[in-house]
Amino acid sequence: MLIEARNLPRHVGIIMDGNGRWAALRGEPRKAGHREGSHAVRRVVRVARRLGVEALTLYAFSFQNWDRPADEVSALMELLVEYLVGEREEILGNGIRLEAVGDLDRLPPLVRTALDELRRLSADNRGMVLTLALSYGGREEIARAARVLAEKAVRGEIEPAAIDADMVAAHLPSLRFGEPDLIVRTGGEKRISNFLLYGAAYAELYFTDRLWPDFTEEDLFAAIASYQKRERRFGLVVPERREPAKVSRRSA
Ligand code: FPP
Repeated sequence: MLIEARNLPRHVGIIMDGNGRWAALRGEPRKAGHREGSHAVRRVVRVARRLGVEALTLYAFSFQNWDRPADEVSALMELLVEYLVGEREEILGNGIRLEAVGDLDRLPPLVRTALDELRRLSADNRGMVLTLALSYGGREEIARAARVLAEKAVRGEIEPAAIDADMVAAHLPSLRFGEPDLIVRTGGEKRISNFLLYGAAYAELYFTDRLWPDFTEEDLFAAIASYQKRERRFGLVVPERREPAKVSRRSA
């Protein structure tokens, strides 16, 4: 699979789905699928960094995932700690900055400590920002921004009339490193599932049937190659130079 070095998506978001099915196909418990999924995380972070992707956001645990059986939630939390501790040298050595978005206060102290430590140690890295969306929900994030804006308005710090789309975006931690250009979802479902809702407005979407634990470097290349074939218009008409003579197409 060939991809162009220029025209890379600057920010890639991934909905890592299919761990449970991967395990079921092998007659193994769901947590075995999550473990294998954490190996895919290592692979994909490495290749995204090598390619020069500037920001990678991984949907590692949704706000809604707290309602899964307690033993699955604990297995996921353990895998997170393992990842944050085990990949520390790899992350730091490759100039990766680790960040997290979501309701982080709900995370168990062990995860929180490992996360905060790697965030602190990697804060000055400029290679790629790896953001883990943890206890994250797009609607919850927007609601929180609305609350913060309302509080500022009540305190007289902002005029309600001044609240526009850019101001809302500036209050969304998931957009701190820019809007996602490409959102990939594995596992065959074709939905956004509360991931980066606000930022997804103009993202290119790429869906694959590949189950997350099977996702390889080649699959990421395929997603990027597909992105590079798309024409991004952001609600505008096609730029003149690409138009057939004097025909103006409406935006989609
Ligand atoms: C969805 O698969 C995946 C998750 C809920 C968790 C994603 C977690 C990992 C990939 C591993 C740990 C993360 C890191 C960063 C080390 P599912 O369980 O919903 O799969 P299913 O749809 O087949 O049941």
